[in-house]
Amino acid sequence: MRRLRSVLLAAALGAACLEFWSACKKQEASDPLVTRGRGLYLSNCISCHNVNPARAGSLGPDIKGSSLELVQARVLRGEYPPGYAPKRPTKIMVKLPLTEVDVKAVHAYLNAP
Ligand code: HEC
Repeated sequence: MRRLRSVLLAAALGAACLEFWSACKKQEASDPLVTRGRGLYLSNCISCHNVNPARAGSLGPDIKGSSLELVQARVLRGEYPPGYAPKRPTKIMVKLPLTEVDVKAVHAYLNAP
């Protein structure tokens, strides 16, 4: 009897572990860099840009598909890459206190399918 109980317990534990493991796998399916970038975008950019980066926001233009060079120049230095023709002639956006890695994540999000 005791033996059966421990076998059952082991089986239940095994099933729980398996479930946990496959839940982790599912999360990995979406790129963690994109997930991080999405969070950074939502907390730093949507006061001016649209929640949907493919559309124009209250102040800023659509920025989906922006190159890494452009996002770095705009966010880290408040500039444009040399020779880039800006979508807007205004100079409203100032540089933001994001790190290089943050910008890579935001870029990954802006270029995610
Ligand atoms: C204070 C408002 C504001 C915030 C916050 C802001 N932007 Fe902007 N952004 C603008 C405006 C307005 C423009 C258009 C040019 C200008 O006036 O500076 C712009 C332009 C851009 C451009 C260039 C678009 C092009 O192709 O010409 C990129 C890229 C960009 N923003 C990315 C970002 C990202 C990424 C964030 C968040 C990390 C962000 N912006 C936060 C207002 C903002």
